Amino acid sequence: MKTNVIYNENCIEGMRKIDSNSVDLIIADPPYNLSKGSNILWDHTTNINLGGNWNKTMQKWDNYELNDYISFTIAWLKEAQRILKPTGSMWIFGTYHNIGIVNTVCQLLNIEIINEVIWYKRNSFPNLAGRRLTASHENILWCHKNEKKKRQYYFDYEYSKESEFSEDNLKEKGKQMRTVWDIPNNKEKRELKFGKHPTQKPLRLLKRMINLSTKENDTILVPFSGAGSECLASKELNRNFIGFEIEKEYYDISIKRINDGDIQ
Ligand SMILES: C[S@@+](CC[C@H](N)C(=O)[O-])C[C@H]1O[C@@H](n2cnc3c(N)ncnc32)[C@H](O)[C@@H]1O
Repeated sequence: MKTNVIYNENCIEGMRKIDSNSVDLIIADPPYNLSKGSNILWDHTTNINLGGNWNKTMQKWDNYELNDYISFTIAWLKEAQRILKPTGSMWIFGTYHNIGIVNTVCQLLNIEIINEVIWYKRNSFPNLAGRRLTASHENILWCHKNEKKKRQYYFDYEYSKESEFSEDNLKEKGKQMRTVWDIPNNKEKRELKFGKHPTQKPLRLLKRMINLSTKENDTILVPFSGAGSECLASKELNRNFIGFEIEKEYYDISIKRINDGDIQ
């Protein structure tokens, strides 16, 4: 499959066309299944809360029955495991709504979890109803294929320990990186230049993952590419990417971002 392309396609079908053991990293930001339960239309001005201050976005791509969500998770993770190199690894985003399912499916498929990272969002939106604590983190699993039960995944330990992460109040240069990352969730102006995605990830977070677990010219697969943030972060760090996004609206934003000259 050609690299440095985002395909407007279902990732499970798209991944079937990719050779086994061929990608160095997968960054998966799947639907969290937050939109369950009604036909309320998404309205930016209301905050319908589901377990914290998570906006119930009511996106059709995020609305599964529990059994279907489990089957969907098994289907994409099986393909991801097949195409990942034994030296590769995979970062998977989630919240408590879905991360337990992702974690269980990884264990069932013998995908080994290397770490669970807590992405602490110190600037997260307050809980307007005042009925819960303010949700201010996401759970990220870092996993590897576990081929022949060997830990062959690439990890740039030097980068993790010695690099400067000036905006992260929990990371000290020269000390080992911990599993809690203090990274503000706001985006730079250029990240929103062509429109917003309701669950868009900041480039600085994705770049940290890419630097930790790949080398220049490696290939990164992004099964749920949304507005193209992971693909753009890959491009800016001289890595190759393959993206899949099922919704034309987001696919169009991602293509504009990738083709924009505004690259750092
Ligand atoms: C959580 S969002 C990803 C946002 C992305 N990280 C960004 O920063 O823009 C998940 C995306 O996956 C897409 N999606 C859902 N199911 C899909 C599938 N089976 N194949 C490809 N894309 C899918 C949705 O349309 C949505 O844009």
